[in-house]
Amino acid sequence: MNVGLKTPILPASEATAAMAARCLAEGGLVAFPTETVYGLGADATNAAAVARLYQAKGRPAFNPLIAHIRDIEAARQIAQFDAPAMALAVAFWPGPLSLVLPKSKGCVVADLATAGLDTIAIRVPAHPVAREILRAFGGPVVAPSANLSGHVSPTTAAHVQTDLGGRIDLVVDDGPVEVGVESTIVGCFEQPMLLRPGGVPSGEIERVLGRALAQPPEDAVSDTGQPLAPGMLASHYAPRTKVRLNARRIEGGEALLAFGPNAVPGVEAASAVMNLSQRGDLTEAAANLFGYLRALDAKGARVIAVMPIPDHGLGEAINDRLRRAAVERQ
Ligand code: TXA
Ligand code: MG
Repeated sequence: MNVGLKTPILPASEATAAMAARCLAEGGLVAFPTETVYGLGADATNAAAVARLYQAKGRPAFNPLIAHIRDIEAARQIAQFDAPAMALAVAFWPGPLSLVLPKSKGCVVADLATAGLDTIAIRVPAHPVAREILRAFGGPVVAPSANLSGHVSPTTAAHVQTDLGGRIDLVVDDGPVEVGVESTIVGCFEQPMLLRPGGVPSGEIERVLGRALAQPPEDAVSDTGQPLAPGMLASHYAPRTKVRLNARRIEGGEALLAFGPNAVPGVEAASAVMNLSQRGDLTEAAANLFGYLRALDAKGARVIAVMPIPDHGLGEAINDRLRRAAVERQ
């Protein structure tokens, strides 16, 4: 690992995908775009590569990874699908939905990647570059968001370089991502459970299932132990600057993360203003969220004040990430 040096960033192309696949096969760490956020890929079957991935991110090894695969056929080789799980896969793959399923008997994914659980999270990404790399590589690729653990997820190659430059082998660049928040995670348990709101609104999932999703018990979001959805740590997706939610007026020196066409009182005193979506569009807001948090964080304001954001559709995922960003840290 060339700590301190930059990692090469290559524009996406067929040749870059082939190089990325070779790098993965040799145990390397490759960041690439998915439709949700940039992921940091490693060969899911190579325990040494997975160990290096945890180390590069500074990620606790009790927090398991999502295996990215080409299609449902490949998914069936590593996980067991019941009828509701298959209905979700057919409805939303390729796309921003991850399913937590029982591992199959012959599951080739390294135990370290699933933190020793007997379940595995999998998804088939929709981004053409991710798909090309998966096709060229041939096997499952584990890919957490390509940021330092606990930090805001990357939506551009430059964000990846900022967090992980010199710690990983290659960054494949295809411009900003489309969705901007991570995949929705559904636990396919006896009663399907929403483990993380994300790119597919939970209402759409419930329509396909024909029933409501269960919510994880309270202790699933505690900051200690081994929670049910281990990545749902209370403080996560966090900028360094303190975040204040549901701001209805701005105090002097605060930076404002706005939403919609209306001005908030006190905005003249804000040290910086960015609007997630001037026209109040939640899809546009999701795509801008992490980039704007990073940009405001870099301005060194005392506090980032965030205007209220409606909680429907993608607003559910946006508010989930903002609540985690706002949790008090040491
Ligand atoms: O959109 C996404 O899902 C992105 C892109 C790169 O695909 N990936 C991503 O991965 O967000 P990561 O590692 O940042 O988040 C994965 C989440 C974590 O919260 C982890 O705890 C949870 O998935 N997870 C993984 N395997 C699990 C399992 N077997 N049971 C419960 N939760 C699991
Ligand atoms: Mg992450």
